[in-house]
Amino acid sequence: MTELKANHLDIKFDDEIILEDISLEIRPEQFILLVGSSGCGKSTLMTALAGLYPKYGGELSQEVSLNHQSIAQIKANHRAKKVAMLFQHPDQQFAMDRVEDELVFSLENLSLTTEEIDKRINSALSEVGIESLRHRELSYLSGGELQKVALAETLAMGAEIISLDEPFAVVDPEHRQELQILLKN
Ligand SMILES: Nc1ncnc2c1ncn2[C@@H]1O[C@H](COP(=O)(O)OP(=O)(O)OP(=O)(O)O)[C@@H](O)[C@H]1O
Ligand SMILES: [Mg+2]
Repeated sequence: MTELKANHLDIKFDDEIILEDISLEIRPEQFILLVGSSGCGKSTLMTALAGLYPKYGGELSQEVSLNHQSIAQIKANHRAKKVAMLFQHPDQQFAMDRVEDELVFSLENLSLTTEEIDKRINSALSEVGIESLRHRELSYLSGGELQKVALAETLAMGAEIISLDEPFAVVDPEHRQELQILLKN
């Protein structure tokens, strides 16, 4: 079974320790809520657990492991099937200019068939309630709309472990409840 693990991990930026001696294990079917005051390091920890440091600037004292392998060394397309992350700031998330192209791009990296990609895009857009944004340009979307696109993208990836950084901050109450049920399922 998939297991994501940190063992006595310290995380630094520019020689300043942000998080110290973090040990935890995460497996599919767990539901973990990470809480703490602003600036305490929640996003930093999630980014580390998604295997994105040192690429995104943080320095780790230990490897984060995914199934006993260093997660940072696993190829992005393999890693994406196991662990996906929704960033707090959506501008960190996107590679393409248009919503549909962005979703296709991230799913193509998973080597799916065209039919499967289309199916996943349709259901992710409808789950998040943004079918109407499908053909829009990302640069003209509002902050809330961008975050919903990022959420749809993360869900469409279908990873075994999904890490959501403030996923409900901009989702209206009606879709919030639907999303909670969806995530639970
Ligand atoms: N790339 C970076 N370079 C330097 N410092 C950073 C970097 N990323 C985060 N930090 C610092 O690390 C600390 C923790 O930031 P982080 O974003 O993890 O907090 P957070 O708990 O997610 O806060 P919030 O609830 O406001 O989202 C902050 O002091 C932040 O300025
Ligand atoms: Mg944060």
